[in-house]
This record gives sequence, structure tokens and C-alpha cells, in this order.
Amino acid sequence: MNLLNAKNISHKFDTQLFSDISLELKQKESIAIIGSSGSGKSTLLHILSTMLKPDSGSVFIDGEDVAKMSKKKLIALKRDMLGIVFQAHYLFRGFSAYENLEVATLLSNQTIDVKLLKLLNIEQNIDQKVTNLSGGQQQRVSIARVLSKKPKILFLDEPTGNLDKTTANEVMDIFFKYIDEHSAGMFLVTHDESIAYRCDRVFALKDRELKRLK
Ligand SMILES: Nc1ncnc2c1ncn2[C@@H]1O[C@H](COP(=O)(O)OP(=O)(O)OP(=O)(O)O)[C@@H](O)[C@H]1O
Ligand SMILES: [Mg+2]
Repeated sequence: MNLLNAKNISHKFDTQLFSDISLELKQKESIAIIGSSGSGKSTLLHILSTMLKPDSGSVFIDGEDVAKMSKKKLIALKRDMLGIVFQAHYLFRGFSAYENLEVATLLSNQTIDVKLLKLLNIEQNIDQKVTNLSGGQQQRVSIARVLSKKPKILFLDEPTGNLDKTTANEVMDIFFKYIDEHSAGMFLVTHDESIAYRCDRVFALKDRELKRLK
């Protein structure tokens, strides 16, 4: 079964952003979405990740229509199965990096993965307040927080936007290894084509459609 099926998704805010988009994500699959600023990439990701209701169309996760799920089921789904890294990362400001990770792991019944912190090169920053971390360090803490939950589907909106090229590719290595080892899948929105093309499939959001590039 596919991890996610999107069927005939359309959405507009002031203008029509996209119409009739259909897409499916399989286990161990990575899908990149590129496109110019304002084309609707984040909006599409918000819809796929159940954060926003589309004007029309349906999103099925694990075979179930999210619009028909009970509130309780949807909360559990978000908490246990979906890993969302937003374009603006929302860490709890007054807390240390460690405390931010602790909240996520407590909620999802997991433990903090020290190996992951080493891989992301943030173990030495773990007791610092997040406000004292650099933008790139904060980004890596939010990535650690998301992966600590062991989600099945990753929704990544510019996850490496604050990172230099080498660090960005190292972080992407972690995501690719993660989806492979956990039979998970990921959607990646990025402006960096070389990172996009590391994914199994690449689409451009253009003229209100998803055009397949790879
Ligand atoms: N909640 C909202 N209410 C009204 N308009 C919105 C809302 N969210 C997004 N938009 C508009 O929808 C369009 C697409 O926004 P979106 O954030 O999806 O673009 P994007 O492709 O992610 O851009 P970027 O590459 O700059 O992140 C923009 O014109 C934006 O102003
Ligand atoms: Mg965006």
C-alpha cells in the first residue's frame, strides 16, 4: 500500500495556485518539489501533511481519507506518523535543545537518539538555549526533533536552507538513510536543484501543475 495518495488536489488563496494534482508516495521513496517563490510549494506540502484542507480533492494516508478521520485519529496520525520540518522552524524558544527533543520523544513514546545527535553534529549544543544557537544549528535541532519521533512520512520544506552545501548534503544523507532504514518516505521542497535531483522523483510546480522532471 502507498504511504500517501493525493487525488485531484486543487487550492487557491487570492489566485488559483494549482488544480487537479495527483501524486502517490511509496515506502522508501523520495519526491522533490521545486518551483519559483510563490508558486505554492509550501501550500501543497501543508495540504499533503494534513495541516491545511484543500479546496477540493483528497489525501489518503495509509489508505485512509484524512478528511474522514476523527479528530482524535488525526491527532494521533500527526503525532506518530508524520514528521514535518517547516520552512520556519518552531522550536520552543525558552528551552534548551535537549528540552525541545524531550517534548517530542515524550509525546511519541520514543527516546532521544544520541546517535542521531552525533550524526547531525549537535550533541555538544544540546544543553544550550535554542535562542543561543546559530540558524543552522537550530535547523538541525528541529530535524533531530522530527526524526526522534520515528515518523513514516517526512514533509521537508527547505530543510537545508540555512546550511552550507557540505552540511546540507550531510543532512540529506541522514534523511535518505532514515527513509531506507525505516521504510518511510519523504516529500522535499527545495530551491536547490542538486539536492532535489538526489530524490527518486522530481517535480516542478509551474502553471498550476506538477511537471515531472525526473
Ligand atoms: N494562509 C494564506 N493566506 C493567503 N494567501 C496565502 C496563504 N499562504 C500562502 N498564501 C499565498 O499563496 C501563494 C503561494 O505561497 P507558498 O507559501 O505556498 O509559496 P512557495 O512556493 O512555498 O514559495 P517560497 O518558495 O517563497 O517558499 C503566495 O502568493 C502566498 O502569498
Ligand atoms: Mg515555501
